[in-house]
Amino acid sequence: MLTLRVFLLCLTFNWCHGADLSNKFFPKNFQFGLSTSAYQIEGGWNEGGKGESMWDRYFHENTSRSLDGYNGDVTCDSYHRWEEDVQILKDIGVDVYRFSIAWTRILPDGTTKHINQEGVNYYLNLIKALRDNNIEPLPTLYHWDLPQHLSELGGWLNPQIATYFGDYARICYQMFGEHVKRWLTINEPKSTCLIGYGSINNAPGLELIGDGIYQCAYVQLLAHAKAYRIYDEEFRNSQGGVVSIALDHPWSEPYSDSPLDVEAANIENQFGLGWYAHPIYHGNWPQPMIERIGNRSLLEGYTFSRLPVLSNEDVEYIKGTHDYFAINIYTGYYTQHIDDYGVGEPSYWLDKGNNVFSDPSWPKSSSDWLTSYPEAMRKLLNWIKVEYNPAEVMVTENGWPDSTGTLEDQERITYMQGYLSNLLDAIDDGVNVIGYLHWSLLDVLEWNAGHTQRLGLVHVDFESANLTRTWKNSAYWYQNLLTTRCLVDNCQ
Ligand code: BGC
Repeated sequence: MLTLRVFLLCLTFNWCHGADLSNKFFPKNFQFGLSTSAYQIEGGWNEGGKGESMWDRYFHENTSRSLDGYNGDVTCDSYHRWEEDVQILKDIGVDVYRFSIAWTRILPDGTTKHINQEGVNYYLNLIKALRDNNIEPLPTLYHWDLPQHLSELGGWLNPQIATYFGDYARICYQMFGEHVKRWLTINEPKSTCLIGYGSINNAPGLELIGDGIYQCAYVQLLAHAKAYRIYDEEFRNSQGGVVSIALDHPWSEPYSDSPLDVEAANIENQFGLGWYAHPIYHGNWPQPMIERIGNRSLLEGYTFSRLPVLSNEDVEYIKGTHDYFAINIYTGYYTQHIDDYGVGEPSYWLDKGNNVFSDPSWPKSSSDWLTSYPEAMRKLLNWIKVEYNPAEVMVTENGWPDSTGTLEDQERITYMQGYLSNLLDAIDDGVNVIGYLHWSLLDVLEWNAGHTQRLGLVHVDFESANLTRTWKNSAYWYQNLLTTRCLVDNCQ
């Protein structure tokens, strides 16, 4: 039954009819949910014994790094308002809530020398409240907020960080594992490395786009593998959960049928997703990366490849560290071959080459990297099946930014309808997609864009004393979808 409000919205915006939308029901066990991350939602940056993270340092050191002056010190204040947020999740009707654990809330300086019980209690309370409300907790161990102390040790450039990460993961499994059946180790390692270690735009703001980014990827893969193996060896028998890593990639589509464009799109997908997925599923970097970076490095005067060589031991250690495929899918691009750039500055962008662009007809969001190309969902899910053949795939993020946070967010609804319809098509194609988690529950802090980019289903008034949460139309729409499990009037 549609609620009156949803019924009226349906009539006004013609939501329920969507001529081109799939008329299939979502499968019975399909899980719907919402995603957030600690730094973006919690606030309480130095409360309850929490230590400093590299994002705390990054913004405090230079306030102009945030577009509108907002940082994660308070943001949605979920550190204090988590009960209200759990209530919203319950009212929307989600099956799963994906959040992240702030490493520095559990281990203030990142090391096991002090376990902060107040931080542990915060997540225990959250996890238990979710369980009490029949919502499955899906914690991510690391969503970009490295302890500042470990950042000073070299951060993700230092292989020792993988050991620290393993120790931290073990503590999380010990503390929370009884109530958690699905884990994610690291969120979007590619974004951390490319934007944080390859540009000034994310913490720690290093510009090592020719070499640091590849070392960062190597260390994050080791860290992920360590956390996976610790679960496998020490906890799986007693806790019976599953562990994976959340990768991200905008689908790359050949601009034309020409073999050069087809190959260019493959290179793009390999540099984008294969960079991480290939070692985890097949045991080494994708061949196009090995060849292109290796060749260019030699031409640039290096005696070795800027892409670290994985030893046999590394390959064996990283390979197979997946229980399900977790993927964040937001957008897609066309890819066109261009003749190789001459040898210049070592750079990821030059290593992969290619001209990458959106179709002018695709609706634009308020973020320049994100246009709406719903078919990206179906195509990327199918590509994942062909390349990695995972038993289960979960879409752990998908979302639409606008700059106003309007409650009348029809654009977001249209975006979700298109992507979810393509997800159903992918299921029809034979991809075993088991869940969809929308980003995000609230208008969380959008990193260096502050609150200028709003992705929540629920609006947050950052000027109000209570940080008032107000449902947008998309929240009502999602609530209705979770009841009907169908994108159109009548599903088969
Ligand atoms: C990240 C989120 C971010 C979202 C929207 C994802 O890449 O995991 O932290 O807020 O995209 O930009």
